[in-house]
Amino acid sequence: MKKRINIVGCGRAAGSLARLWLQADAVLIGDVLNRSGQSSQAAVSHVGAGTVAESIASMGRADYWLIGTSDHQIEHAAHTLATARQDLGGTAVFHLAGRFGLEALAPLAEQGADLAAVHPVRSLTHDSLSLEDFEGTACVAEGSDRAMKLIEPLVTSIGGAWLPVKGIDRGLYHASVAIISNITKAIAWKAQKWQEKAGLPSSTAATVTHQLLHSTMEDLFRSGARQSITGPVVRGDTSTIEAHLEALASTHPDDVEVYRVLAKTVLELARERGDLDQETLSRFEFLLGP
Ligand SMILES: NC(=O)c1ccc[n+]([C@@H]2O[C@H](COP(=O)([O-])OP(=O)(O)OC[C@H]3O[C@@H](n4cnc5c(N)ncnc54)[C@H](OP(=O)(O)O)[C@@H]3O)[C@@H](O)[C@H]2O)c1
Repeated sequence: MKKRINIVGCGRAAGSLARLWLQADAVLIGDVLNRSGQSSQAAVSHVGAGTVAESIASMGRADYWLIGTSDHQIEHAAHTLATARQDLGGTAVFHLAGRFGLEALAPLAEQGADLAAVHPVRSLTHDSLSLEDFEGTACVAEGSDRAMKLIEPLVTSIGGAWLPVKGIDRGLYHASVAIISNITKAIAWKAQKWQEKAGLPSSTAATVTHQLLHSTMEDLFRSGARQSITGPVVRGDTSTIEAHLEALASTHPDDVEVYRVLAKTVLELARERGDLDQETLSRFEFLLGP
């Protein structure tokens, strides 16, 4: 018999997953509860399955409980679930936050639930997310043996890559994934503005940025950052970096510090690779700051 999942907090992330589970015919979408009835109704319509619930206590029995609330509401939702239900023994309860591990769900352990934190490492925002889009998405999962056994098929049924971890430093982990995803986009946005200021038509700037990001990703996947990085810093071309800083100082003075911090990161990599002699390193340190 097909298993059933209830969702407390069915927004962008949980709603996207529910739609994928529906497409994969992986699990029955049971009851759905958001903070307001209107929002629960919108979530059910959006997913195309499930039943609006009025409270946690009124929700039907389920094999899985997904707490898909925003990060700061997870503990509250877990506490409410633990106090409102007596039938959680043997069920798997999980959240989707990268920032938290199992501690956010702690009160549920006393009710006999098996707990997990499953972090799909991609932005889950768009309505048209397909199984093809989700295929291969890293899903970093931590939980009790039984929870992991129960939840793994849910994740792999929609093409997620199941990546178990144990006792990781959540702050550091989340900082790393946030920086890859958000900072890449923010830096691309900023660099595109610099190109437009330099005189490139905006459509040309968009093409240059997208093509460059694309080939950069290909290089990165093929041989990794350490191996594939190129450019003036690793070549030891101090005069080019000086010219970049001058151009930015006259057009975008507030961005000089951004450039310095990022170029220093490239320098750190070049130093680790042993690319540069001491004189070149000292010149870069003078230009970019200690
Ligand atoms: N979106 C992503 O790209 C993404 C990717 C990976 C992981 N995640 C993780 O997924 C989780 C949800 O993120 P999201 O982006 O989907 O957030 P979201 O779009 O803001 O959705 C949160 C949902 O939770 C509901 N909610 C909040 N507090 C609640 C409570 N106490 N009881 C019941 N429902 C409650 C909200 O309902 P109302 O509308 O009624 O307020 C809303 O529908 C977070 O832990 C996040 O870190 C998100």
